[in-house]
Amino acid sequence: MSVEAKISVNATSLAERLARPELLSLEPYQSARRIGGEGQIWINANESPFNNSELEGLNRYPECQPPELIQRYADYAGLSSRQVLTSRGADEAIELLIRTFCIPGRDSIACFGPTYGMYAISAQTFNVDVNALRLDAAYQLPQDLPSLVGDAKLVFICNPNNPTGTVIEPDAIEAVIRSLPDTLVVVDEAYIEFSPELSVVKLVERYDNLVVLRTLSKAFALAGARCGFMLANEAIIEMVMRVIAPYPVPLPVAKLAIEALSAEGIERMQTQVDTLKANGERLAAALTAAGARVLPAFGNFVLAYFDQANEAKVGEMQARLKQAGVVARAYKDPALADAIRFSFTSDEQTDALLAQLSQRA
Ligand SMILES: Cc1ncc(COP(=O)(O)O)c(C=O)c1O
Repeated sequence: MSVEAKISVNATSLAERLARPELLSLEPYQSARRIGGEGQIWINANESPFNNSELEGLNRYPECQPPELIQRYADYAGLSSRQVLTSRGADEAIELLIRTFCIPGRDSIACFGPTYGMYAISAQTFNVDVNALRLDAAYQLPQDLPSLVGDAKLVFICNPNNPTGTVIEPDAIEAVIRSLPDTLVVVDEAYIEFSPELSVVKLVERYDNLVVLRTLSKAFALAGARCGFMLANEAIIEMVMRVIAPYPVPLPVAKLAIEALSAEGIERMQTQVDTLKANGERLAAALTAAGARVLPAFGNFVLAYFDQANEAKVGEMQARLKQAGVVARAYKDPALADAIRFSFTSDEQTDALLAQLSQRA
């Protein structure tokens, strides 16, 4: 390779090398908001001049990436604002990554089941192949991961993992990031507030192939607001910005999210996480006493298997829950046929669940 060729390869970011080629020359849609301007009479976006709501500015299009929201999340995550992108939930971030980096009909993603279903569904909706690998018997990543992953563009690791609630140590994730320098390793930390010590967010500074996904839907109690985050190096964020919709974050959502990420909001979240974890422990103990095999729970839910001989069977448990008006989650995946996932809940509802579980079938 000539010196010039080498320099030009090095000068190209990983994001540019992995992105769908047509994005490299694509000029993102220039919304009126993006173009901006100065003055008192704003008639550049076909908006209404009338604000019929109490929310200031609701008649105007919002910022694509509201700066205050981005800065708040950057501060919360310990990153720079250039390493943060906000989206309609982590689900949209998953989709954006696939649309930015995978060529339909040619590229693939890899994930490790049983895991969150949207990685595969999102890929399939874009005609992107899914290399559906499995966690091992101890719910850890397989030994020969790089060869199993093959030429997947994106590798999704959910940590803590939904629906098992189990975790992979940050050192093991870092080893994967190192072993796949030309693949984007996407670590979905939707539940990380329940086990913050396991986050790999600090590694974003160090590795250009790491993407971390976050959400306000879980610990921050804002599932209805649809607000998630992608954390990655600037080149990846810049590339995804070519694909994102012009106005992905509704104004009321940005307001709610900014409040949730205030010092008081974060403190309230942490108090609620403590309450939920305490109730989760009570629930796990009651499930064990009721004959279930319960996995260690690092998120805000516990996966209970009703597969032990002469103990509560899954069908019986499902019937009991239904009769008591309890809606928990069962699965079609054959590996989870005997399992039910229970989300942690309030003191009162946990008391009611415990009372149910203590009754003999
Ligand atoms: C692991 C995981 N990632 C992402 C999501 C989606 O999060 P959001 O509500 O931010 O789209 C969920 C939702 O259940 C999840 O379990």
